[in-house]
Amino acid sequence: MDAYECVITKLDVREFGHRAVPADVKAKVLEAGRSSPTGMNTQHWRFILLQEPANVTKLAKDSTSGKWVEKANFAIIVLTNPKYGFHGIDAGRATQNMQLAAWNFGVVSGMYTGVNTEALRRDFAIPAELNPTIIIGFGYPTRKITGKKKNRLPLSQVAYAERYGNPVDLKKLSG
Ligand SMILES: Cc1cc2nc3c(=O)[nH]c(=O)nc-3n(C[C@H](O)[C@H](O)[C@H](O)COP(=O)(O)O)c2cc1C
Repeated sequence: MDAYECVITKLDVREFGHRAVPADVKAKVLEAGRSSPTGMNTQHWRFILLQEPANVTKLAKDSTSGKWVEKANFAIIVLTNPKYGFHGIDAGRATQNMQLAAWNFGVVSGMYTGVNTEALRRDFAIPAELNPTIIIGFGYPTRKITGKKKNRLPLSQVAYAERYGNPVDLKKLSG
């Protein structure tokens, strides 16, 4: 699939099948995270890969808004340093890159942010200076995902031309 199709069809999925994701796909997902941009190229993110079922179960127990991660084949904790005001943006960009890389290989994923921070720190040896900012669960889908139907506002409602409130007319784009 090309990059545009990958972006347009990618959904956040919270159900996963039993089939194991191959090691080379996991490696590429991590590489996509490492390739991500950061403010001032600080590269303060760190990624904890969880593929031991007992650890994925622990991760789910430490979650407040992502219990579904229990069924993931593997998961990644995205850590960022909150001393950088833009750290959440950096976490988001790395997360989306990793999710898109996975989707390119037919692996679906979902992300969540709600965690019991103290429990997560203790269970996965997370240092005090880093925040567990986003958690992503990955796996193969249980049903066919086309991503053709997305629940999104129409472009006319979210994209404006030249000034706020002036809807973009796709028939009048220059170029
Ligand atoms: C900043 C952010 C925080 C999110 N937090 C959670 C969460 O805590 N739990 C969860 O299940 N999904 C979470 N999501 C997933 C969103 O619900 C999902 O991306 C959105 O509904 C669009 O999904 P779709 O692309 O499949 O249509 C979060 C997404 C974003 C971007």
